[in-house]
Amino acid sequence: MPDTPHIELQDVELAYGSFVVMRGISARVERGQVFVIMGGSGCGKSTLLWNMIGLRTPPKGDILYDGRSFLSATDAEREAMERRFGVLFQGGGLWSSMTLAENVSLPLEEHTGLRAPEIERIVRLKLALVGLKGFEHHYPSEISGGMMKRAGLARAMALDPEILFFDEPSAGLDPITSQRLDELILSLRDNLGTTIVMVTHELDSIFAVADHAIFLDNQSRTVTAAGNPRELARSSDDPAVRAFLTRGGRKQPTH
Ligand SMILES: Nc1ncnc2c1ncn2[C@@H]1O[C@H](COP(=O)(O)OP(=O)(O)OP(=O)(O)O)[C@@H](O)[C@H]1O
Ligand SMILES: [Mg+2]
Repeated sequence: MPDTPHIELQDVELAYGSFVVMRGISARVERGQVFVIMGGSGCGKSTLLWNMIGLRTPPKGDILYDGRSFLSATDAEREAMERRFGVLFQGGGLWSSMTLAENVSLPLEEHTGLRAPEIERIVRLKLALVGLKGFEHHYPSEISGGMMKRAGLARAMALDPEILFFDEPSAGLDPITSQRLDELILSLRDNLGTTIVMVTHELDSIFAVADHAIFLDNQSRTVTAAGNPRELARSSDDPAVRAFLTRGGRKQPTH
């Protein structure tokens, strides 16, 4: 169906036991869009991401992929849906006892029937794509934080996912590396049609890549704004949203 969104959040609640983090999160993400989850620290951005990839289950609401419920899917259906996800966690999430090449090859070994030389070729390609050519045999402890992040990204992309989930991908990166990451995200969207769900509070990155965004508000514990961030910066009358998007009196970019 042409008007079925790639991802739909329907009145999702986020909670840890009886502690409700957020209520009533609804959103539509079209295929090939970059969707950004914004909000202050501790408002529930990572929690929302974990619920969207199945690491936690929302007590209320539903999450749909291509119009199909993720929460009421059978184990087999859910596995098939998860197989199309690539995830980069906030800390990078690499296995410290494995080299970068081994880390990136893990999902390929687990989920494909590919042979070793083919896997090796893909691993080299993905690491080169994030600027880590030549670091295949390094261990995570032997590279910088930013490099770990990029290796995590290479691993998230290993299976050519339809949806990439990123939790603060540019945190801790220098501005140039961060800008390259934005370019990579846009090229994944434009060349492969990948849908990208990203948690970030880097304003430059938000304005550079987001097609659509939601703002999770710490005070009211719900979504208080949704739309294109440039539009929101211009037209939102919510003080928290405006403050977030125009931090430090910064002007909205004109390009
Ligand atoms: N495993 C957990 N058990 C209980 N509460 C948790 C757990 N993880 C997070 N929380 C709480 O849930 C709320 C949302 O946390 P979350 O990590 O989703 O925030 P965030 O928006 O990602 O913050 P940040 O920008 O700092 O990464 C916080 O109040 C946090 O203390
Ligand atoms: Mg977080």
